[in-house]
Amino acid sequence: MAKVKTTFFCQSCGSQYSKWQGQCNACKEWNTIVEEVIQTPEKSDWKSPTAAVKKAAVPLRVKDIDVSKEPRLDTFDGELNRVLGGGIVPGSLTLLGGEPGIGKSTLLLQISLKLPYKTLYVSGEESQKQIKMRAERINPNNNNCYILTETKTQNIFKQIESLEPDVVIVDSIQTLHSDYIESSSGSISQIKECTTELIKFAKETATPVILIGHITKDGNIAGPKILEHMVDTVLQFEGDRNHIFRILRANKNRFGSTNELGIYEMQGSGLREVTNPSEILISKKDEELSGNAVAATLEGMRPLMIEVQALVSTAVYGTPQRSATGFNAKRLNMLLAVLEKRAGFRLGAKDVFLNITGGITVDDPAIDLAVVASILSSNEDVALEKDFCFAAEVGLSGEIRPVQRVEQRILEAEKLGFSTIFVSKYNKISLKNTAIKVQMISKIEDLVGFIV
Ligand code: TYD
Ligand code: MG
Repeated sequence: MAKVKTTFFCQSCGSQYSKWQGQCNACKEWNTIVEEVIQTPEKSDWKSPTAAVKKAAVPLRVKDIDVSKEPRLDTFDGELNRVLGGGIVPGSLTLLGGEPGIGKSTLLLQISLKLPYKTLYVSGEESQKQIKMRAERINPNNNNCYILTETKTQNIFKQIESLEPDVVIVDSIQTLHSDYIESSSGSISQIKECTTELIKFAKETATPVILIGHITKDGNIAGPKILEHMVDTVLQFEGDRNHIFRILRANKNRFGSTNELGIYEMQGSGLREVTNPSEILISKKDEELSGNAVAATLEGMRPLMIEVQALVSTAVYGTPQRSATGFNAKRLNMLLAVLEKRAGFRLGAKDVFLNITGGITVDDPAIDLAVVASILSSNEDVALEKDFCFAAEVGLSGEIRPVQRVEQRILEAEKLGFSTIFVSKYNKISLKNTAIKVQMISKIEDLVGFIV
């Protein structure tokens, strides 16, 4: 009998050690190193005994490699297609990560039910009945989607060989285990092994595989970083569980850009694609209220109009409170300091609360000017004109800085019927005959003139 080989893995970062030690040298975590049984690599094949002998690769000139007709499978979901760069590439491995309860299983089940191809949805997390109940809510009349509740990879591949699905979905990679490895599901060596087997299967049969991955409490995909290196595409599904919007973005994409993003709305019957996010994010009000301002931001490549709300009030307690939802609190403090120093507003003794509506977190610097405008509006208790919007960054000396792709923002604001957009004087704009007035400003004082 072959000798059992073991190695020590850090459960936090995946580093490998030949003997146990208390602290991981790589990530400096304590007590994360665990002994795991490993096997010789040649055994770990997705269909071990009859594995096809691969043809040896030959080097080719870059210009001789044919990619022109790289086929993609349409996912019949506009948002997912956009994020993937035009559909799923055959033989690719995609990893979808996100907080528990955000809707990963719902999204992929919904995709499986929409696809006209034969899809196999492998679940190690829920029973067939549970999935059926969910499917009833989404789309009960589908004949191409097969559900398998199994966690052992060898059994999964046996089913795949007889079913021959066009797309395989695995929920989740952390629940799988392979017979070749003795450690428990979710351990570093199991995740590595199961992913390797799935990659071999995907590449040899040109079947796309989509994996769901759990994330750790600090937001990274659970398991070794190597998982993210091994797969072709890493998608992140995010949003606030208490709000209806969900954002799908690509953190890594070997077949497309990582700038695109998809927006969904969680409904009683699954996730709905949101094609006009700006219209939904801006509340339609009859009255003008102080403290509200609209920013023309970009999320990925898409323009998105977002409403910013500020409340400035006299501090009741000694230390004023500053709180921001959906916006970086440090950046809020910086903007308040700029307003105090450069425009003479006494905000040091005021409580300031800031909220980005819709549960969205924005890190586009172009939202700065809208934040400043909403704070000034609330501080002075005068409402802004309701068809004003803003797209510029604010610098430390109170200068209004240019932002990227300003023309796209202007066109989106125009489309949604805004009358005036405030941008930096230093932005080069070559748009002509726009219905919207483009107000160029260079200093924060210029903005004050329009508000108070
Ligand atoms: P789920 O997809 O299981 O999340 P994950 O796999 O990321 O852990 O759960 C999504 C949540 O969405 C769940 O709390 C219930 C809710 N939901 C709806 O609001 N509408 C629906 O149609 C479905 C299927 C789920
Ligand atoms: Mg799930």
